[in-house]
Amino acid sequence: RKNDRESMMIVNSFAQKYFSEKLLQSEEGMAVGMSYLRERGFREDIIKKFQLGFCLDSWNAFSEQAIQSGYKKQFLVQTGLSIDKEKGLIDRFKGRVLFPIHGIAGRTLGFGGRILKKDPKAAKYLNSPESEVYHKSRILYGIYQAKKSMVQNDKCYLVEGYTDVLSFHQAGIENVVASSGTALTADQIRLVKRFTNNMTIIYDGDPAGIKASLRGIDLVLEQELNVKVLLLPEGEDPDSFSRTMGATELSQYIEKNETDFIVFKTNLLLADAKNDPVKRANLIIDIVRSIAIIPDNIIRSVYVKECSSILNVDERVLYTEINKIKGRLQ
Ligand code: GTP
Ligand code: MN
Ligand code: MN
Ligand code: MN
Ligand code: MN
Repeated sequence: RKNDRESMMIVNSFAQKYFSEKLLQSEEGMAVGMSYLRERGFREDIIKKFQLGFCLDSWNAFSEQAIQSGYKKQFLVQTGLSIDKEKGLIDRFKGRVLFPIHGIAGRTLGFGGRILKKDPKAAKYLNSPESEVYHKSRILYGIYQAKKSMVQNDKCYLVEGYTDVLSFHQAGIENVVASSGTALTADQIRLVKRFTNNMTIIYDGDPAGIKASLRGIDLVLEQELNVKVLLLPEGEDPDSFSRTMGATELSQYIEKNETDFIVFKTNLLLADAKNDPVKRANLIIDIVRSIAIIPDNIIRSVYVKECSSILNVDERVLYTEINKIKGRLQ
């Protein structure tokens, strides 16, 4: 098993180098893959920093080369780089731009592959399948490139996608990781906590992004991370938004507009509840539930104070509710 893991990572490393070379040096890679990235405005230093690659639009060019170079079919299939078909191995990432996904130590654990043309029948992104080396729920995209800056700034930005991470780096902000479109997990939060206790969630300014930020919050609170939220203007994601301004302007915008989770959640729900008393009551219960999750008494009391003032509800009422919930949790 341990030997299998090592063999799989060696195959991934070969694949990463192969795909990078194709992107940067092959005619097709330059004409198709690089053009795509350049059109989106990604600089070459960022493309290299993240070791982006390109898989030729051929059924098996990669798999054939790998076999010829002496890599075993078993590990090509286990990593998901190749798919075992009756006729032979075919390339999973055919025709896609590749984002290698690195572990903390910088080794390639898997790939995300973006399709270049709009195709309603194909997924926009394709990921390596779950395997001994690639556990989607334990990985955060960009952690290797972010960890130093996460420590230096004692803070981490959480975004949704690969290109969001790249664009932040391009703007000069390096303490950023992506959950890659899935709900945040406890394992991923533990990963962040090795470097910092402060996180700002910057999800896409669309209904899915807002929902996802709210979903992530309770988990983050439970793990005793300090969490803020930045809501982007409608229709923007961190990638598109960061392109409209320079590094200083972007940092200033974030600092000015990020809000504490409780303010974020409360305002969001308040806007929806308006003067409906039933909705208002449900809102209070919802917020109180989030506060009750916080393990630390002092931090919890700060939130109770804040919440009591925003909602215009007596602190004692909130504590009564919190104690009820905590009693149920025990
Ligand atoms: P671009 O369109 O290239 O700018 O990507 P994006 O990151 O803005 O995509 P989006 O906001 O739609 O999704 C956020 C993240 O969710 C992506 O970066 C992917 O990690 C993931 N994702 C999006 N679409 C798919 C999909 O079709 N399949 C899978 N497996 N993941 C996806
Ligand atoms: Mn396992
Ligand atoms: Mn989105
Ligand atoms: Mn997006
Ligand atoms: Mn995008």
